[in-house]
Amino acid sequence: MHMRKKKNRDTRLERVQGYFAKTNEEGAVLLDETFSEQGELYLEIGCGKGAFITELSRRVEGKRLLAVELITDALLMAMEKCAAEDCKNLMFLNANAEKIHQILPPHSVSRLYLNFSDPWPKNRDREKRLTSCTFLEKYKQILAPGARICFKTDNRPLFDFSLQTFPASGFVLENVCFDLHNDPMNETNIETEYERKFSEKGFTINRLEAHLPL
Ligand SMILES: C[S@@+](CC[C@H](N)C(=O)[O-])C[C@H]1O[C@@H](n2cnc3c(N)ncnc32)[C@H](O)[C@@H]1O
Repeated sequence: MHMRKKKNRDTRLERVQGYFAKTNEEGAVLLDETFSEQGELYLEIGCGKGAFITELSRRVEGKRLLAVELITDALLMAMEKCAAEDCKNLMFLNANAEKIHQILPPHSVSRLYLNFSDPWPKNRDREKRLTSCTFLEKYKQILAPGARICFKTDNRPLFDFSLQTFPASGFVLENVCFDLHNDPMNETNIETEYERKFSEKGFTINRLEAHLPL
């Protein structure tokens, strides 16, 4: 995601600091100190400017929502959106998902959202894709029994790649869809910033769900 450096970033980060997840010295999230309420943990990796996760926080009750984002300026916008809309039980972390298995406790995540993850089109970068087997093995360590990964992308090569990596890593695919906006599943869809931008340009949206066999 290309972003210009935000003006007064430090002051603005200071204003929303109450929305940062609490971590220990190793950078692992302390869930009970981070969230004021209990409930299943829903995680979004690569939340961008936060349109999806803030809307999700309005739609679900009794869940703990955590949004992880690598780029501080994007995260800042997501956190400001969260603060302005007074979203409940939504917290943020500025981190690289490469360490997600060290950041979150084992088997703590009930749902993982990957929305419009960077496609990394060059073959030599394939392991950087958030749906590569390298990442899926890390997710397996943090997924709770029965947990679900929900993945959306406009990028067909990335989607086709993911249709192979999930089963190769032992996941079962469900609700695979190549044109979400013309599918009944779209009724409950929450549009992300990238989704709006690329569907307006005429790209169809692909979506899948994946879970491990119980
Ligand atoms: C193409 S944007 C999509 C943003 C948003 N999910 C949407 O659909 O509008 C991908 C986002 O994932 C973030 N990202 C990419 N790799 C990441 C990683 N390894 N860990 C955390 N965030 C990452 C990027 O910084 C960027 O904000």
